Order: sequence, then C-alpha cells, then structure tokens
Amino acid sequence: MKKFLVIGNPIDHSLSPKLHNYWIKNNNIKAIYEKQKLESSQVKDLILKVKKKEISGINITVPFKKTVIPYLDELSVEAKRTESVNTIYLHKEKTVGHNTDIEGFERSINDINFDIKDKKILILGAGGVVPSLIFALEKMGVSRITLSNRTKEKAEDLKKLFRNLSIINWGQNEDFDMIINATSLGLSEEDKIDLDFSQIKKNKLFYDIIYNPSETNFLKKGKDFGNKTENGLKMFIYQAQASFEIWHGIRPKIDNDVIKLLYL
Ligand code: ATR
Repeated sequence: MKKFLVIGNPIDHSLSPKLHNYWIKNNNIKAIYEKQKLESSQVKDLILKVKKKEISGINITVPFKKTVIPYLDELSVEAKRTESVNTIYLHKEKTVGHNTDIEGFERSINDINFDIKDKKILILGAGGVVPSLIFALEKMGVSRITLSNRTKEKAEDLKKLFRNLSIINWGQNEDFDMIINATSLGLSEEDKIDLDFSQIKKNKLFYDIIYNPSETNFLKKGKDFGNKTENGLKMFIYQAQASFEIWHGIRPKIDNDVIKLLYL
C-alpha cells in the first residue's frame, strides 16, 4: 500500500488527510494518507524515504515549506521562484519539490466573478503562503501589489524575491481593489484585524486565506461595507487536487460532499 504524508508543526488542525483519504477511497486507490508532526532536524531523513520509495509523496505545511528545499534533488519553476514547496514526489528516481498553492489560489480566483487584471492588491501578512500569492497575482496581471506586515523586515525580505512589491507600515491605509488576509489573525473567532476600513468604497474583493472559521471578522467587515468576500477553502481544495493529480494521475472530483466533509 502506498503511503502519503502531510508534515508540519503544528499539524493536528490539518484537513489534508481527510480530503486525500476521501479521494483515495472514491477512486479505489490502494493508499493511505497520514499526518506527521516533525522537528526541522527530521526533515532530511523523511525526504530520503521518498527516494527509497518508502513514502510515495509528501505535502508540506507551516513552517517547513522552505526548510525542505536543500534536501530535494529538483525544484519546479514555481517552487524555485517562491522558495516554497508544498508537494514532494519522485520522478525518474529524483525527489522533486513543487508548489501547488499557486495553482490553488489562481483557480479559486478564476471561480469568482472578479476580473483581477490590472487591479490593485493589498496583502496583509508575510508568512509562508505569501510568495505563492504574489507569484499567482503577478501571473494574473495585476497592476500593483502592496504588502503590509506587523514585522516590516519580513515584508522587506519578500521584496528580495519580488522586486516590484510596495511595502507599507502595518496599520497604514492604502487604496486597493482586492485585499487578502494572509495573517493568522482570524483563526480564533474573536481575532480582529485592527485596520480602519470605513474609508473603503464598495465592490472590492475581501479574500481570507483562512477557511476555518468560514467567515472571519475580516470577511464579516468586508461584507458589512458592501464588498465581495471569499474564504480560503477553494484554494485549499484546489491545491490538494493538484497534488493528488501529480501523485495518482487522476484529477479527483470536487463536489458538495467534499465541501461538507471539510466542514464536519
Ligand atoms: P510563518 O511566519 O511562520 O510563515 P504564518 O502563519 O504563515 O507563519 O504567518 C503568520 C502571519 O500572521 C505573519 O505575517 C504574522 O506577522 P509577523 O510576521 O509580524 O509575525 C502575522 N500575524 C500573526 N499574529 C499577528 C498579530 N497579532 N497581528 C498582526 N499580524 C499577525
């Protein structure tokens, strides 16, 4: 039986096993997908297990998306550009790191009735997922990306990867067509982002990477001011679907049962 894993720290919250095992069963594949909490010192040995075919594929989540890179034989263009790997597989005896978060984000935007071309984007946060968002947004032809992070140095670091970024101070106002919450603020129901949205005109897109809770205070606020909102569930499902297709050669179905499964 083939074995797949998601690694991270913490990892308890991960819904990837639920989703992948559902698709594995539905497609009559002989495989199991598990989660494993890891320390960074264990990453190298785990990747060796892919090389030795003891593990067939790995998903990576916070905080190891960059940590895994030195231990891989090859990187996809996307993984290289974002210095971020969320999917590992073996190809011609080489371990390969790829990034399906980019595709996940892009496809989630394509599903919404929002023409992103030439739009101004404001991203809150500078954590592990942000390079993937920037890569996808640049590919989709946005006109400007502004980053605001509590720790400004982390935003400045991202400017080394993406030269066209504009950086503003945390709490500073900036005009935008789409705002993305990529901070962890909102994971707790009572979390509030201390920004003044009262000057914002209507018909913007408020996008939260968080999908649990399904409506963060950030999205509630966006909605209250007359804007479109989208949470991170589709991005999560699409990145998983892309990983699944790489490993199993099948594009699994996304239907209401899948969405119900994740919210149970
Ligand atoms: P990592 O930084 O390890 O990749 P992450 O969960 O991907 O972790 O990112 C957390 C993001 O949420 C960061 O941008 C973080 O800001 P800092 O870089 O200043 O830590 C942001 N964040 C977390 N708690 C926050 C808070 N109370 N206020 C503002 N931003 C916060």
